Amino acid sequence: MATILAIETSCDETAVAIVRDRSVLSSIVASQIAIHQRYGGVVPEVASRQHLEAINPCLDKSLVEAGVGWSAIDGVAATVAPGLVGALLVGVSAAKALAVVRNLPFLGVHHLEGHIYASYLSAPDLQPPFLSLLVSGGHTSAICVRGCGDYETLGTTRDDAAGEAFDKVARLLKLGYPGGPAIDRQARSGNPDAFAFPEGKVSRPGGGYYQYDFSFSGLKTAVGRKVASLVETEPTLPIADLAASFQATVARTLTARTVACALNSGLDAIAVGGGVAANSYLRQQMQRAAREKGLRVFFPPLHLCTDNAAMIGCAAADHYERGHRSPLTLGVSSRLPL
Ligand code: KG4
Ligand code: ZN
Repeated sequence: MATILAIETSCDETAVAIVRDRSVLSSIVASQIAIHQRYGGVVPEVASRQHLEAINPCLDKSLVEAGVGWSAIDGVAATVAPGLVGALLVGVSAAKALAVVRNLPFLGVHHLEGHIYASYLSAPDLQPPFLSLLVSGGHTSAICVRGCGDYETLGTTRDDAAGEAFDKVARLLKLGYPGGPAIDRQARSGNPDAFAFPEGKVSRPGGGYYQYDFSFSGLKTAVGRKVASLVETEPTLPIADLAASFQATVARTLTARTVACALNSGLDAIAVGGGVAANSYLRQQMQRAAREKGLRVFFPPLHLCTDNAAMIGCAAADHYERGHRSPLTLGVSSRLPL
């Protein structure tokens, strides 16, 4: 049984967790959302500075909440990629310094592998192989998970990530940042069939479409055009209907392609992760479609969908047990395939 102290600072949450295999002893998340809200999105330089201020209090809290001392920790992990370089550097530098001072091994973790492990944390019965749909502000990927470190990306976005589309459409509708939760809330009182928006498809050079790939930038443009024409004709914008119709289009696209991908790949379980997995409409639609096809579907609870360090610790614990260690020379990277 490995006990790992893990740090996640890839974007706008400073997170520290202590994880023993697949049980979470503590999980601290200091969110910067309130700070970035006034700029309408994450400002990388501001994020780095906030991480610097928050990291030590989060580390202290994680040990106190877990009720363990350093003698109980077997390794120190941190997200090394992908993410904002300045933000990643704060967490990785802290983890490396602690590893050196405490004479512990350091483990660098890929952020998307962390999101995959969030599914294990919330569904102890989940066993590979399964299809992981990762939908966040930076990523939209359908990944076949065969085991620890054994991943094959079967589909991905060619332009905007699903969460990015939520954030951009929310900006169009003047709903503020982050856009996903705001659209989710507005959509509850709207009609998902009020407007017909296109499902983005990715053309193959020889004809036809890539079946499991995604494209959301055209959808964002279509919502923008609709908003521009409604502004000309209507006294007030039908925000709830626009939000519900946009959200339904994203959910329909994600659900149809993920279910088809699982069925055609012989996988009988889908695990959804990343911030957009918190979307209530997507959760409903995916569950219904999967049930109809006899597939099992897993959604982590909301606090494990968005960024946290417990998922990073869980991935690191599995690697630790397999004897994997990272060199202290391992750097950070804004983009790195899984
Ligand atoms: O995984 P995450 O916390 O950070 C990244 O790694 O990107 O995901 C953040 C993204 C944001 O784009 C946010 O708008 C979206 O997840 N999000 C949602 C919801 N909650 C968060 N999107 C749709 N519906 C939600 N309820
Ligand atoms: Zn994330």
